[in-house]
Amino acid sequence: MNNKLAVVILAAGEGTRMKSAYPKVLHSLMGRPLLRWVLSSVYALAPARVCVVVGHRAQEVRQALKGDAVMFIEQKKQSGSGDALIRAAGALKSFSGDILVLCGDTPLISAATLKNLYARHRRQNNAATILSSRMNNPFGYGRICRLESGAVSGIVEEKDADDAQKKINEINSGIYCFTSPLIWSALKKIRPENKKREYYLTDAVEILNAQGARVDAACIPSGDEIMGVNTRLDLARAENVARQATLEKLMLSGVTIINPATVSVSPDAKIGRDTVIYPFTIIEGDTVTGENCAIGPGSFIRNSVIGDSVEVRSSYIYDSTVAAGAKIGPFSHLRPGTKLGEAVKVGNFSEVKKSVVGAGSKVNHLSYVGDSRIGKGVNIGAGTITCNYDGINKNITVIDDNVFVGSNVNLVAPVRVGRGAVLGAGSTITDDVPPAMLAIARARQVNKTRKHK
Ligand code: UD1
Ligand code: CA
Repeated sequence: MNNKLAVVILAAGEGTRMKSAYPKVLHSLMGRPLLRWVLSSVYALAPARVCVVVGHRAQEVRQALKGDAVMFIEQKKQSGSGDALIRAAGALKSFSGDILVLCGDTPLISAATLKNLYARHRRQNNAATILSSRMNNPFGYGRICRLESGAVSGIVEEKDADDAQKKINEINSGIYCFTSPLIWSALKKIRPENKKREYYLTDAVEILNAQGARVDAACIPSGDEIMGVNTRLDLARAENVARQATLEKLMLSGVTIINPATVSVSPDAKIGRDTVIYPFTIIEGDTVTGENCAIGPGSFIRNSVIGDSVEVRSSYIYDSTVAAGAKIGPFSHLRPGTKLGEAVKVGNFSEVKKSVVGAGSKVNHLSYVGDSRIGKGVNIGAGTITCNYDGINKNITVIDDNVFVGSNVNLVAPVRVGRGAVLGAGSTITDDVPPAMLAIARARQVNKTRKHK
């Protein structure tokens, strides 16, 4: 842990430009809230403390970070980024060292860039080091003003910039290193004398300069990393950058992706070598797939573990485990809590929920298997339904090894079918079936002579 470094993340703003009922920093980028992206880069620096300034819908933001070792600081009224930072002064009063400040809406910032910024801040012994970048279209960002000598003189916001300043293409990322306690006294001097009538954190730079403290901007080449997400358009652009970066990494690690423009894989997912991902596939969360899998076209997998050589064709899989050699789909739905053994087949229009299916078993056509324990080598005939819900409780169906379930059977749970039993097609099974027996539970067919008129 770095005892000389504290982090403050500003995340109290409403994000009005998102036009949303949800706080901006909780909007999802590739399945992860924006704020979580910032935090994961921050943690790589092992700071002694991480403070998150919350305000707008603070409760939801706190909830989203439940379990993180962060300290929440409330900014009741959102009167600007400078005011937001000063709220953290109390919590960091006893802390002397460097303070890395980030915005909760800059998700693509990498740990490496933060490390470089911090190293430079230390090396140059600055009072403030701003992370900046040049952008072809700097609109909306604060611009870095430099003197002829090249020294940073201040930051001017878009709304307050004159025509000459608007032409500056070096922009403020909203990420800074400050030296404490110097920054606290500078923040106290900020006045809301600008178009937005807000306390701008960026004004601290000019104030520190006026005090003769060293201020510098570290300009990094790519603008992507420090892209601020203010609108849904920005969110889509950030998603595109993150998505492509993740796919590139996967492809270089030995995964084939066909038509990558249509594929999205979570940065937390792990995909095995020689797996082929077909178009229109989305893999979310911390999904792990083995080697040699064929996933897609048109599949969606979230938080699941998939073994080697598994096929997932046009299917949805949530919070499930699938062992090696299984074939899923086309058009199957594995719902949370499903565990499929090796070489299991779940096929056309079948749904499996919270069930274990043993190795080599087949649920090939138009079936519903819920709250069930199915053994090995079981054949579930087309159209079989486990009637697991009696309107009040969910009940268990147990089908032991090597059972043959004929087509269109209803298993009214709780019910157990013993090893090697056979269930006649069209049966509605309400009682347990002992091993090796043939159970038929349907009305006998009657052929009647038709009356002809
Ligand atoms: C800010 C910077 C701008 C920079 C840009 C980079 C200021 C004045 N401007 O502008 O120079 O180019 O970020 O993306 O800082 N926040 C609070 N409390 C508040 C207001 C804001 O916590 O009262 C938080 C927001 O949640 C957000 C961050 O501060 O995470 C920045 O606020 P935002 O309104 O997005 O500032 P920008 O206009 O993008
Ligand atoms: Ca912003």
